[in-house]
Amino acid sequence: MKPLLEFRDVDVFYGPIQALKGISLTVNEGETVSLIGANGAGKSTLLMSIFGQPRIANGQILYRGEDISRRSTHFIASNGIAQAPEGRRIFPDMTVEENLLMGAIAIGNRYQKEDKARMFELFPRLEERRSQRAMTLSGGEQQMLSIARALMSRPKLLLLDEPSLGLAPLVVKQIFHILRELTQQGVTLFLVEQNANHALKLSDRGYVMTNGEIRLSGSGAELLVNPEVRKAYLGGV
Ligand SMILES: Nc1ncnc2c1ncn2[C@@H]1O[C@H](COP(=O)(O)OP(=O)(O)OP(=O)(O)O)[C@@H](O)[C@H]1O
Ligand SMILES: [Mg+2]
Repeated sequence: MKPLLEFRDVDVFYGPIQALKGISLTVNEGETVSLIGANGAGKSTLLMSIFGQPRIANGQILYRGEDISRRSTHFIASNGIAQAPEGRRIFPDMTVEENLLMGAIAIGNRYQKEDKARMFELFPRLEERRSQRAMTLSGGEQQMLSIARALMSRPKLLLLDEPSLGLAPLVVKQIFHILRELTQQGVTLFLVEQNANHALKLSDRGYVMTNGEIRLSGSGAELLVNPEVRKAYLGGV
């Protein structure tokens, strides 16, 4: 398998606080990989450092073999990486349709029409609400919009930070169903989740983070039955 994304001994600091401590991990082309861990473990920091915010202090972040850790956010976005960040960060005053078009900016307007139609196929809910302002969408709809907007740049690698956060179980199921469809279409997915059960079931492999470090790694199936993971992230037994 070919590595698409690689962290090599990456350190990140916020002032005197070290948020990432010697992180090494790999996401191969076509894989779904999840990163799980408690609040404050450093998951969002790790994901955001791929876009250079924050910048890493030591180590390397390789994308298709090239060190991108000093590259601009624009370079990264226009070379096949997209993210749906924690808290969704959609544009509240814009309509659903306008939000989608913003997602395509990194690759120009070549595929806008075709891709918008594809998103509406994938998320029929968004089509019904295409002219509605994003701030008035429900939490689940906003999450769908956030994912759809990220997909508008035709990413090779999609980064998702807690797509299930704050959503009702049924909506979480719908979101994971759509993620499965995406992975079947060949999108490489790197997923941060507190919902370890759903995430590990979907994933080829996973990493468990505690306190800025990778503590465990393995296949999704292995981690699902790992006693430590069950105790800490799957509600016991
Ligand atoms: N901009 C910042 N300035 C200072 N410290 C920060 C900043 N962002 C995050 N941190 C700290 O870095 C650590 C890791 O935070 P991070 O947001 O990466 O955790 P997380 O695993 O995503 O947590 P959660 O599950 O709650 O989203 C935390 O201790 C946090 O307080
Ligand atoms: Mg986070």
